[in-house]
Amino acid sequence: MAFDLVLFGGTGDLTWRKLMPALFQAFRHGKLPAGGRILAVARDERSDDDYRAYIRDKFSGVEEAKQPSDEEYARFASLLHYRRMDLAQPEHYQGLKGWIDERGADTVVLFLATSPHLFPVICDQLGQAGLNAPHMRVVLEKPLGHDLASAQEINRVVRAAFREEQALRIDHYLGKPAVQNLMALRFGNALFEPLWRRESIANIQITLAESIGVGTRGDFYDRTGALRDMIQNHALQLLTILAMEPPSSNDADAIRDEKLKVLRSLKPFTRESIARDVVRGQYKAGTIDGRAVPGYLDEVKVPAGSRCETYVALRTEVQNWRWAGVPFLLRTGKRLPGRDAQIVVNFRPVPHPIFSGATRANKLVIKLQPEDGLELHLLAAKGAMAGEVLTPVFLDLDFEKTFASERVGGYERLLLDALAGRLNLFVRSDEQEQAWRWVEPILDAWAEDTVGPRPYVAGSWGPPAASALVARDGCVWAEEE
Ligand code: BG6
Repeated sequence: MAFDLVLFGGTGDLTWRKLMPALFQAFRHGKLPAGGRILAVARDERSDDDYRAYIRDKFSGVEEAKQPSDEEYARFASLLHYRRMDLAQPEHYQGLKGWIDERGADTVVLFLATSPHLFPVICDQLGQAGLNAPHMRVVLEKPLGHDLASAQEINRVVRAAFREEQALRIDHYLGKPAVQNLMALRFGNALFEPLWRRESIANIQITLAESIGVGTRGDFYDRTGALRDMIQNHALQLLTILAMEPPSSNDADAIRDEKLKVLRSLKPFTRESIARDVVRGQYKAGTIDGRAVPGYLDEVKVPAGSRCETYVALRTEVQNWRWAGVPFLLRTGKRLPGRDAQIVVNFRPVPHPIFSGATRANKLVIKLQPEDGLELHLLAAKGAMAGEVLTPVFLDLDFEKTFASERVGGYERLLLDALAGRLNLFVRSDEQEQAWRWVEPILDAWAEDTVGPRPYVAGSWGPPAASALVARDGCVWAEEE
């Protein structure tokens, strides 16, 4: 299958930090379909060779095992091409079309790795230039809007040029192997399905913690905040996969229809429930890994007195027969103690304890980051003595070790799926809009609220109010057990 992959924003951060390393890994693993061309498009004038040298240089920032040797890079670089384009000029799109048509590839993927404010103009111009034929797909990377209206506007422009199945919205969490394993756990195994419901599950916690701060992205982050940056997309996507009904098949729309139903079943927020069930925080100076780090307000490009949240914890419910009343507890934050993304499914305790001492309920921990694995926590008896207190033990499955040599990175997987037209891991516009619809009341309430985010010390697990939030349901966050 000959393909053309066009990267708009070809000299930008996303291209050299994520896309090129992922494409190189796909190339190294022999997964990139033969006969492909990768065309980087950007504003300045350079030759193909200049561009190849530019990207070669950027590889020095990639972890060592993923760096190409000179010989490997020479072969990979032969796929790379460069083209200068002014994105507002129709004739530049005609030129691009000429370049693509001359070769007549079977598949053309147009990846918009640009600032999102350029999406409307690029989609519009692509449509007008006829760069929207059925074998062409457009890939859009978040942020896709900053509220429901702006997301709908982007979707309107995209839809004017491309059919829904030609528009691929990336949520890079869906590319993570751990997330695909969650689908496998739920729908490739019968074991958990009878327990996967309100009768057996006490609560579900989703934690997306990062120890990094906002770095040099202070201005972007300040317009975004943790709710838009992590909850509206990544955390809600995880929630949909956890809570969805088994789809009728592994087809993209069968899966996305079920995910959409979950989003539509989320308990809507009211002013009262926002005040009670949502906690927002902002980090103050503190210490992480023995190193002093500044507070959010002292980060570069953060406006003085900003009330942007760098932490969110919230409680919601999925209002259907399977989940009614089960708390879904979501949290994310910057400058927390570590990079730790995990889902904890807390099962209900035994109905009638016969062992003495405190009993602990079972839990299933689905680890996404830094390792990718599953832990099933059980209680066991060390010996068979009467009155013995049971000991917590766990079954530990480490996917990194199990599948060591076959792991495929998130962007590698998503790029290969985009080229192959496999849509399962891309977000459909109705899912994305429904997620905005659900978070929007929180954004509105915060805009009017005069109190602002609660402070938390960098290196802590967030504001104490987040513990109080879950305590109301008789729960604790995983690290408090
Ligand atoms: C991005 C957010 O979507 O996800 C970043 O914009 C965040 O703020 C990143 O750091 C986290 O991704 P990962 O894959 O490192 O968990």
